[in-house]
Amino acid sequence: MSIDLAVIGGSGLYNFPGLENSSRHRIDTPFGAASGDVVTGDFAGRKLAFLARHGESHTVPPHRVNYRANLWALHSLGARKVIGVNAVGGIRADMGPRVIVVPDQIIDYTHGRYTSFCDVEGAEVRHIDFSEPYTESLRRELIDAAAKADIAVIDGGCYGATQGPRLETRAEIARMKRDGCDLVGMTGMPEAVLARELELPYACLALVANFAAGCGDEAEISIEEIFAHLAAATAEVPRILGHLLKS
Ligand code: HPA
Repeated sequence: MSIDLAVIGGSGLYNFPGLENSSRHRIDTPFGAASGDVVTGDFAGRKLAFLARHGESHTVPPHRVNYRANLWALHSLGARKVIGVNAVGGIRADMGPRVIVVPDQIIDYTHGRYTSFCDVEGAEVRHIDFSEPYTESLRRELIDAAAKADIAVIDGGCYGATQGPRLETRAEIARMKRDGCDLVGMTGMPEAVLARELELPYACLALVANFAAGCGDEAEISIEEIFAHLAAATAEVPRILGHLLKS
C-alpha cells in the first residue's frame, strides 16, 4: 500500500473527519503494539492514514506512548510522509490559545523514553543528523496549505518537549523560555527523531491550547479550557491537510 500522508492525532483529535472508504489495520511491530489501529481511507482524493497517539479513547499518557511502534506501523503500511498534530502550551506572547504553529526546532526535556530504533540487541548504531528536526519541505507544504485554506499559522518556533503527564511549574517554563522554547508539549519527542531514523519526512502542526504556566493571566490552567481551545484549533486541521494533499 502507498499512503500519501499519515497523520498522528494528539489530544482532541481521535479520528480523522471526512475520511472515506476507511479500513482498520492492527499492525504487529517488533517494538510491540501501536497506540491503536491505523485507519486508512480516502481524503481529498488521496490515501491518508490516521493514528490516535493517545488511543481512540485517550487512555495512553504521553510518557507511555509506544512512539517506536507507532512510527514503525505507519512506515510498514507505506506512509510517505507524516504530520504530527500536537496540543501545546504557548510560551511566546504571540502564541496564545487557538494559535497554530509549524515549529522548526526542538529541545528535548523528556526522559526514560525509547528514543531510537537502534536500542535493541544487535542493531547497528547510527548517529543521524538532527540539526533540523523537522523536514523543511514538509513544513513548507503545511504553511502553503494553510495559506490556501486562509488559516493563519506561525512559521517557526522552538518546541520544548516535557515528560508530562503533569503540566509544568512556572519555574520550569521560565527556564524553558530562557533556553529559547516558544512552545511546550509532551509528545513531540521522540516522535520526530524516530521518523528521521526511518527517513520518513515529518513535520508538526502544533495547536496552542493554553498559555503555559506563568505566561498568561490565569493563576491556574484549566483542563476544560484547554479542551475547548483545542476543539476550535483542531477543527481547522482537515482543511489545512486537504489543501496539502491537493497541491
Ligand atoms: N504544557 C505541556 N503540554 C501541553 C500544555 C502545557 O501547558 N498544553 C497542552 N499541552
